[in-house]
Amino acid sequence: MVLTTKYLTTNDEDLVVAGEMLSNGQIVAFPTETVYGLGANALSSNAVEKIFVAKGRPSDNPLIVHIADIEELTKITNMQDSEDEKIVKEITNKFWPGPLTLVLPKRDIVPSITTGGLDTVAVRMPKSKVALDIIKNSKVPISAPSANLSGRPSPTLWKHVKEDMNGRIDGIVQGEPCDVGIESTVIEVKNGQITILRPGIITAEDIGEVLSKNNKTVQIKYDKGILRDISKNDSGEKPKSPGMKYKHYAPKGKMIIVKGETEKVEEKIKGLQKEYEAKGENVGVLNFSNIDEKKVATLVFKELRRMDEEEKNIILVSSVDENTGIGMAIMNRMIKAAGGNIINA
Ligand code: TXA
Ligand code: MG
Repeated sequence: MVLTTKYLTTNDEDLVVAGEMLSNGQIVAFPTETVYGLGANALSSNAVEKIFVAKGRPSDNPLIVHIADIEELTKITNMQDSEDEKIVKEITNKFWPGPLTLVLPKRDIVPSITTGGLDTVAVRMPKSKVALDIIKNSKVPISAPSANLSGRPSPTLWKHVKEDMNGRIDGIVQGEPCDVGIESTVIEVKNGQITILRPGIITAEDIGEVLSKNNKTVQIKYDKGILRDISKNDSGEKPKSPGMKYKHYAPKGKMIIVKGETEKVEEKIKGLQKEYEAKGENVGVLNFSNIDEKKVATLVFKELRRMDEEEKNIILVSSVDENTGIGMAIMNRMIKAAGGNIINA
């Protein structure tokens, strides 16, 4: 089915229209501070179903529910552990609105299609004013995965959303480029412990700092598979975040990450570039060495999409230091984008 996609501005009147479209069960893409999201009424199975169809998303990959008011959290989640409740309170006080998503036990009001059949729900309050206004105007919690076709790099400009979604969704809000550039940190809070399911710009250290200030010693661990591509193996490894097992963020060309000391990496990339060009390949190089990590986060998906525009069929990318929190978040996206293709310099 081909839809006529309506293009909206970020004027107040248009944000009212976007909110109304969402409350009427339509699907509308809008900017957040991380990446563009594709919104639908999270409490309507029919509306959420449209997201899965438009993105071509596997039905067991759950969506993040976005709220604009902390009161909404208790309407959709059901925390039974008072210790977890305290942890959540401290974390939301510090990091909401912002790029942090919490996975918590869900209430029945959240349909199972929204959570991919899980009994937990992921919730986030975004910082972007445009996103908050749209959610408030819709008067419902809004499911919003990244607004890309499943498997493609996440969109950080509205024109990326147009490339993937024109004719597949009801509306696109043409906002600013996204500040952060990679998706939110996803954490699960359970039995007094925290597991990082997807790393992001808010790091384990940031979270640990807040909790220790409040005299809490909470164990923070990483879920399996964060720095590996597990989309292609059948080892039976099951990450807690279902999204991690699918092909992700991939450009059309073959992407190779080169890892090691900066100078060696640059040399290795030059050598490979020559080799591939001699074979007639259209080679693209992304050298992220010596660029601030936060800047790299804003660039990574945008640059991968640029490689596609320029029809590069070999894409050589320098690695970043995965031992820093933000570096790990960037490498998590790059390793998946490259399908696990990494070589040492
Ligand atoms: O920054 C973001 O989080 C963006 C913007 C639009 O807000 N949204 C986003 O959504 O990245 P999406 O659908 O592309 O990623 C959601 C991630 C997936 O990895 C999914 O598996 C995980 O969150 N997730 C959602 N619900 C979950 C649950 N109940 N348990 C475990 N993981 C969950
Ligand atoms: Mg996504």
